[in-house]
Amino acid sequence: AHVSFDSSALKKFVHPNELGEMQAMVNAADDELRKGTGAGADFRDWLHLPSDYDQEEFSRIKKAAAKIKDDSDVLVVIGIGGSYLGARMAIDFLHNSFYQAQAAADRKNPLVLFAGNSLSSSYVYDLIELIGDRDFSVNVISKSGTTTEPSIAFRIFKQKLIDKYGEEEANHRIYATTDQKRGALKSEADDAGWETFVIPDGVGGRYSVLSAVGLLPIAASGADIDKLMEGAAAAEHTYVDPDLTKNEAYQYAAYRNILYRKGYETELLENYEPNMTMFAEWWKQLAGESEGKDQKGIYPSSANFTTDLHSLGQYIQEGRRFLMETVVKLDQPNHDLTIPEAKSNLDGLEYLQGKNMDWVNTKAYEAVVAAHTTGGVPVMTVHIDKEDEYTLGYLIYFFEVAIAISGYLNGINPFNQPGVEAYKTNMFGLLGKPGYEEIGDQLRKEMAD
Ligand code: PA5
Repeated sequence: AHVSFDSSALKKFVHPNELGEMQAMVNAADDELRKGTGAGADFRDWLHLPSDYDQEEFSRIKKAAAKIKDDSDVLVVIGIGGSYLGARMAIDFLHNSFYQAQAAADRKNPLVLFAGNSLSSSYVYDLIELIGDRDFSVNVISKSGTTTEPSIAFRIFKQKLIDKYGEEEANHRIYATTDQKRGALKSEADDAGWETFVIPDGVGGRYSVLSAVGLLPIAASGADIDKLMEGAAAAEHTYVDPDLTKNEAYQYAAYRNILYRKGYETELLENYEPNMTMFAEWWKQLAGESEGKDQKGIYPSSANFTTDLHSLGQYIQEGRRFLMETVVKLDQPNHDLTIPEAKSNLDGLEYLQGKNMDWVNTKAYEAVVAAHTTGGVPVMTVHIDKEDEYTLGYLIYFFEVAIAISGYLNGINPFNQPGVEAYKTNMFGLLGKPGYEEIGDQLRKEMAD
């Protein structure tokens, strides 16, 4: 299998009966998801995106990616949250660890740089400096078209495009990924004649990486989006049977809920490959925004190993006992290295001479699983056999379907995100957005008290 789930380290924490005991609940969750009887049923279209997507749009995405490669040294991808993290993690996962430096050096593919995912002015300034007089295009991604962070960044980069190329050519360098019919960005795109791509109505931001949201930037980076979709389609087919003895994505959902109910309330997603750091960021949004509501839900966090074994490792081993861990373990690295012989053994590494570095990495993983298990931290592992497009598509789907089932197991609507509005309302009040004056006055008063 390209992706496999390993629960063998849970023996100390979960009795063998417990998984079976979850089957009835998993069946109910599966019904809610597949039959649409659960909350949030309008947002399940991601379930069939890999097997049933718009082919015409898919080929337009490839054409746009080819044009960007041809006429741009830099693609600025503007978006936040679900309109950002999928492309960001995929590009890291699929390419050379130093993709941007390599892209700048060999100029085969554009640098893919992200904006609109914070309100830092220095970041935008630095990005403009970096672009310098390089040719660039912009892919603005926003379902609503009104999110503050990407809207501000888009204004700035749109103006930069117009300054550099004039309005007409600028319009040929803007690609807008947005709602099909509604939204401010859609109207502006239609007026200006930008090429547009669709964020389907029934696909929420955190479930959108396999739509144009992720696919255009990923394709522009030179990755193979056909293979990505093929892998996801294979997973769609694999994870369809609710039987827990057969469905490993559902097993993962069930185990993390068993553990959650025993007090393991925070889950660390871990890797042993630095280029999966952003994968954990994507997963954190998927899990956190889906499950953290109604005053409950597993808190998703992450750690990068072996790096963080030298920082967070102490806490994980001996701190407060509320953590569970899920390792995404790569079984076959793209490249391996042999530890060389040396003249002396002053570094004490003679015993590793001639061994592969990845073998050492894997031994580290095994040692950590054993140590954390002894220390009282349950560890699950999702093995992936390669870091390629097919496997990533498979892995994305594994987590998407697992988190949806997990949310229903915990009795919440996994597809809404009412909580992300609270800060926005306050921010609009403080910024003086028309219609929010009263909230602004109220907040200023509270802050003065
Ligand atoms: O998952 C979500 O809904 C959010 O993270 C959104 O993706 C994020 O707020 C960006 O929204 P929009 O695409 O409307 O700009």
